[in-house]
Amino acid sequence: MPRPRVSSPRHYLMCPPEYFKVTYSINPWMNPAKPVDQRLALVQWEDLRDRYRSLGHTVSVLEPDPELPDMVYAANGATVVEGRVLGARFAHEERRAEAEAHLNWFRGQGYPEVREPVHVNEGEGDFAVTSDYILAGRGFRSSPLAHGEAQEFFGRPVIGLDLIDPRYYHLDTALCVLDEAAGEIMYYPDAFSPGSRAVLTRLFPNALRAEAADASRFGLNAVSDGHHVLLPQAATGLFEPLRARGFEPIGMDLGELLKGGGSVKCCTQELRG
Ligand code: ARG
Repeated sequence: MPRPRVSSPRHYLMCPPEYFKVTYSINPWMNPAKPVDQRLALVQWEDLRDRYRSLGHTVSVLEPDPELPDMVYAANGATVVEGRVLGARFAHEERRAEAEAHLNWFRGQGYPEVREPVHVNEGEGDFAVTSDYILAGRGFRSSPLAHGEAQEFFGRPVIGLDLIDPRYYHLDTALCVLDEAAGEIMYYPDAFSPGSRAVLTRLFPNALRAEAADASRFGLNAVSDGHHVLLPQAATGLFEPLRARGFEPIGMDLGELLKGGGSVKCCTQELRG
């Protein structure tokens, strides 16, 4: 019998893809020659937003900027733990101004602790939070120095993980926290260096390990509320294993957003505490 799962109400920050397009390429999924259907992207995004709300979660919306086509990937703009906000600093010039938009939003909302970071970190793209740790990706975007900065700011041990496959350039493309308190995760082992794989096995011996096919459909780019797991519907191989653990997988179609190299999680920043 799978253990009973309980969802807890979440607060998410999202940014509509009103100006989403692929005009540059900073990851292997982005091909500026391939057309994007902006209207469809918006419909898919609204579907995700409405799904969160129908599950009882709160979604705040960040105003998109016509100059920043990747702003729809709101997860990258900051990391919030216990109400403390660590801003982002983007690796690529094309996205740099997004960091300021996020910082301004948090200040406008009256968050008391908002830190502009010194080192490059792409928010929840590379930081995943469990009750015990902050798991932190490096290798393509966030600087290893940002890991120390996050540890000092949040006062939680940061576990550095080396990403080695350019298709999985952010931690959230290869790993998802399913249950923070239980420290339950799913991940795609081949996205990580051998040493990091060993670290993951040691810390999370019961993790759900994804197959290559599901990883390549962005199946790890998922959001869990402790019970419901929203993930790309094409990652069919993950549904049964999630159900067997007592989770309720909810397949979403974010096909247009995949053209920018992101899916469910990339579009969703969690505002914790
Ligand atoms: N085009 C964006 C980039 O390459 C996609 C970001 C996806 N976001 C994420 N959290 N993985 O930066």
